[in-house]
Amino acid sequence: MTAVTVRVPAKVNLQLAVGPAREDGYHDLVNVFHAVSLFDEVTVTRAEPGPLRLTVCGDLESHTARVPLDGSNLAARAAELLAREAGVEPAVRIHLDKSIPVAGGMAGGSADAAAALVACNTLWGAGLSDADLHALAARLGSDVPFPLLGGSAVGTGRGEHLTPMPCGGRFSWVFALAEGGLSTAAVFREYDRLRPDAPPPRPDPGLAAALAEGDAPALGAALANDLERAALTLRPELRRTLDTGRAAGALGAIVSGSGPTCAFLAADAAAADRIAAALTGSGNCAGTVRAYGDVPGATVVGPPER
Ligand code: C5P
Repeated sequence: MTAVTVRVPAKVNLQLAVGPAREDGYHDLVNVFHAVSLFDEVTVTRAEPGPLRLTVCGDLESHTARVPLDGSNLAARAAELLAREAGVEPAVRIHLDKSIPVAGGMAGGSADAAAALVACNTLWGAGLSDADLHALAARLGSDVPFPLLGGSAVGTGRGEHLTPMPCGGRFSWVFALAEGGLSTAAVFREYDRLRPDAPPPRPDPGLAAALAEGDAPALGAALANDLERAALTLRPELRRTLDTGRAAGALGAIVSGSGPTCAFLAADAAAADRIAAALTGSGNCAGTVRAYGDVPGATVVGPPER
């Protein structure tokens, strides 16, 4: 085997409840992840030993231009971590074919890292178990374990302790893209400034029931993101984007994770078309993408096409 390609989904947070800052600087979360059908494909190819090479392509050129191509890229760090764990040389090239917005609050960098772990484990025949991969993923970042699992799941702790949640329907989503990214750390810092007295995060049983029952109106009403106010303080123009989607009939509208992508839940595919058209027509966003959820996590899809 000379190459392996892994397909990995983006996520949207259905609930993101954030507690006060902990001593280690992180925040305890109740973080309901939902994997959506917006995928990156990560290909690892055997290469001569030497510095790890990384290339990127994708639909969103303004986004791919911002992907770091050095050792700081989370996918490169994932390959190096797995190589150390497996006792092999990290002699691979990594290619990222991106559809997930970059620094958009949809965990694209974390998804690529999760995919790189799965791809290298397969390429090198390293034989690490799902539990081993989960532990390595948690060392790379709070959002890296979820894309290994996919579906819907609640993350506690800093988001890395995952419990799968049943999802009883196929939910239609529209995402409004924004120019430029937002730094997750900066949004959490703004949250601390706005909410120095944040209470401990609590799960929402109503949201879990709506998800399990496939009840889109109830899920739309239950969507909640404690980071939204902080993201809107840093990017006030996102308020107009949210209002546009709501006025076009979205059942729920939230900033995705730490933003700046905004997520809209639609009643069905026709409603999603109307919401996407209204967002595009308003000029309030840099583009829209449609997706459905939930979908499975990182999956080996074979060698790359020639
Ligand atoms: O874990 P990760 O490296 O992805 O987190 C990025 C940043 O987001 C952290 O440096 C921290 O500032 C913030 N964060 C947090 N609490 C969490 C997860 C992330 O404060 N539970």
